Amino acid sequence: MFSLSTYSAALAICTITQLTAATLEPHKIALYPWQPSLRTSFKRRDLSGTSSPLADYFLGTDLQWYGNISVGTPPQTIPVLFDTGSSTIEFASTLCGQSCANQTLFDPSKSSTFLDLHNVRSLVFSTGLGVDPVVGDNYRLVLRGAMDQIGFGNLPPVKVPLFLITEQTSKFGGHPFSGIFGLSATGEGLLSSLISQGLPSLFGMYLTPFAVGNSEIMIGGIDGSKFEEKPIFAPLPPESGSTWQLFSSSLSVNGKTTVILNAPRTVIFDSGTSNILFPSATAHAIYSLVSPDIQPFSQLPGTYGIPCDRVSSLSSMIEITFTSEAGKPFNLTIPTSELSVGPFKSNPSICQTLINAFDGYELSGRSLIGGSLLKHYYSIWDIGGRRLGFAPSIKA
Ligand SMILES: *[C@@H]1O[C@H](CO)[C@@H](O)[C@H](O)[C@H]1NC(C)=O
Ligand SMILES: *[C@@H]1O[C@H](CO)[C@@H](O)[C@H](O)[C@H]1NC(C)=O
Ligand SMILES: *[C@@H]1O[C@H](CO)[C@@H](O)[C@H](O)[C@H]1NC(C)=O
Repeated sequence: MFSLSTYSAALAICTITQLTAATLEPHKIALYPWQPSLRTSFKRRDLSGTSSPLADYFLGTDLQWYGNISVGTPPQTIPVLFDTGSSTIEFASTLCGQSCANQTLFDPSKSSTFLDLHNVRSLVFSTGLGVDPVVGDNYRLVLRGAMDQIGFGNLPPVKVPLFLITEQTSKFGGHPFSGIFGLSATGEGLLSSLISQGLPSLFGMYLTPFAVGNSEIMIGGIDGSKFEEKPIFAPLPPESGSTWQLFSSSLSVNGKTTVILNAPRTVIFDSGTSNILFPSATAHAIYSLVSPDIQPFSQLPGTYGIPCDRVSSLSSMIEITFTSEAGKPFNLTIPTSELSVGPFKSNPSICQTLINAFDGYELSGRSLIGGSLLKHYYSIWDIGGRRLGFAPSIKA
């Protein structure tokens, strides 16, 4: 899920500590350079990485991957979406009424370490939970700032700022997880604290298609059993701040490109979004190369569809070219199998295709890529090294 993370993280820090606007500067944390000699270099550290299984929220197509954290004392197990597109931690609580009725709720009155900070804010997302486009503020949370202990896997629990959801729009209500655990590129909160205690400053994600299963997230390390080839790393552009993004030089469909596609663009990597968002001119140029049968679906502006009986005719591999830290081009590929994300609810004879057009100011011209690409790679999110790594993931 994409929220304006730099801004909202800064805002979160601000509201918590009651500081003035002058503190809206990047949140500085200790960054530990990470050496590529993986397993051996971890030995001298005080904390080692730990992995946790993820469940796939699947509704005909893979939507999101979520797993458990423990909150409070004694710990309460809360399922959250691990989201590289946002930077705060928020989950449903017993302070939330009917709108959270179907979710696991954190009960602050049962936690001896809970600290209510008595501040209220709201958070609006620019990408949603399913494959529907965001319309207005239909993905909005009302939050109450607090602090409590949060634990991940067998890492020591850490007291961190968090937000309790006290109200949410209906789009959040029907999901199997209770909230969102932001994992931005500056590693605030839990990660920042664990890194300062010696945890390696990176995490690895193995997000897999539903049929493959065994998804996991490893915090403070990478799980070398989930890929075979050496990962390729690319540096985050200097001004990326808390956003996981890379420069791309070109994009092609089945090896073909066009003037619009063969152009530089900035691509955000968001584990909490299932679809892909491109500016409308780019989306249109890609679809023109994929199939004339793909047309805008007017009932849901921003989406495109194809008659479902034409889906099997599609054969289009989308390759996006990036530059590695060694200065060499490499491609990340979205296979044909991702092109259809299933029938539209309002017209089941039309199948939605995976790219939504998005021209909103929130992405300021950038593109956003989510699960449909990430589920084909083991991804390495290197906070200390300010880079992203990818290796084709094993499918078992
Ligand atoms: C999260 O915890 C619940 C309750 O203990 C458990 O049923 C569920 O399988 C866990 N989820 C994952 C992804 O491990
Ligand atoms: C909770 O689930 C029930 C039964 O599926 C449904 O009718 C209701 O709308 C859901 N509530 C929310 C807030 O999602
Ligand atoms: C990336 O894909 C394009 C289009 O198919 C191809 O021309 C190029 O050689 C590929 N680059 C690499 C490094 O594989």
